[in-house]
Amino acid sequence: MKECSSIRVGGEGDLVVVKSEEELKEAVMHAKASGLRVHILGQGTNTYFAEDLSKYLFIKPDFKGIECNLLRATSYLLQAASGESFDDVIQYSVDQGLWGIENLSRIPGSTGAAPVQNVGAYGSELKDTFVSSRVFDIEENLFKDLLNDECNFGYRDSFFKHNPGKYIIVSITLNLTKEFKPTLGYKPLDTLVGKENLTPKDVRDLVTATRLAKLPDWKKFPNTGSFFKNIVITKEALEALKVNYPNIPVNEVVGGYKVPSAWLIEHVAEAKGLKVGDIGTWEKQPLVIVNYGNATADEINAFASEIQRKIEEKTGIKLEREVNFIS
Ligand code: EPU
Repeated sequence: MKECSSIRVGGEGDLVVVKSEEELKEAVMHAKASGLRVHILGQGTNTYFAEDLSKYLFIKPDFKGIECNLLRATSYLLQAASGESFDDVIQYSVDQGLWGIENLSRIPGSTGAAPVQNVGAYGSELKDTFVSSRVFDIEENLFKDLLNDECNFGYRDSFFKHNPGKYIIVSITLNLTKEFKPTLGYKPLDTLVGKENLTPKDVRDLVTATRLAKLPDWKKFPNTGSFFKNIVITKEALEALKVNYPNIPVNEVVGGYKVPSAWLIEHVAEAKGLKVGDIGTWEKQPLVIVNYGNATADEINAFASEIQRKIEEKTGIKLEREVNFIS
């Protein structure tokens, strides 16, 4: 399974690739009959695996297809199959001159995985354009449609994330628009404010350049992107933190103050660019943990726990993991 994880960690497992809804149903039936737990694989860009995976049947939906239809006036519905790379969907949408998902450019992974953690970057989240998803209900053995408000989307969070054995995402439908609607609040996209004839492609190009400069390409430096979530703390917790860390950058958000975990890793855990054996944090963005060789799941877990421990010891804040560990 290490080949199915962008951080290249995992033991042997049984994997079925399904190309149709019928094959998907059959694979689920086989898992049920064999007493195996179903785990759905996208491109594994947010997942790593334990050595012993004998209780799982891994199912990879290889569903393809992207289409876009006019809904009304300037509004379009784009439907994409779960096996498409999400970035190919963004490229398609940008090519049509549609606004809505351009800020999510270059997020690695499949379309089916995008709603699971409500992918987000540069001030946009999938939930902002998500209309519905066609899913297979594993328990009830039938296909159905789920609407946005049934998915309980939150920051890096959804119903799917909390109920991993419940649904298999077959396709998603997004609402995009040709009306000029850029989201340019997040740095460095604010540099595009006021640019003449700004297009979704201009935004995509800047996001691409920014990500390339900061984030490691998992094909060269295996990683699963941000390993931890950013956190929201209360006013009291922020004031306590500022006693020892007066320079901590924070953003006021709904429910409190958002503290960048990258900052805590760099300045509190002092772990920016830290390497222990084959595991380390990326020197330009320490929220990303990289496998520099033949790291194991145990090594990743120990490394991540040590970062959490140091930060908790000094600040009382416990970083929450964002990446899935399948064990
Ligand atoms: N920072 C540091 N040191 C660093 C890097 C960042 O202290 O080396 C601090 C700075 O204060 C900076 C702040 O962290 O202003 C935020 O950094 P950045 O803009 O790079 O974003 P992030 O909050 O660390 C989040 C997402 C990324 C996404 C970027 C851009 C999470 C967990 N991560 O990172 O998502 O690309 O914003 O929107 O929310 C991913 O999920 O894999 C991912 C890369």
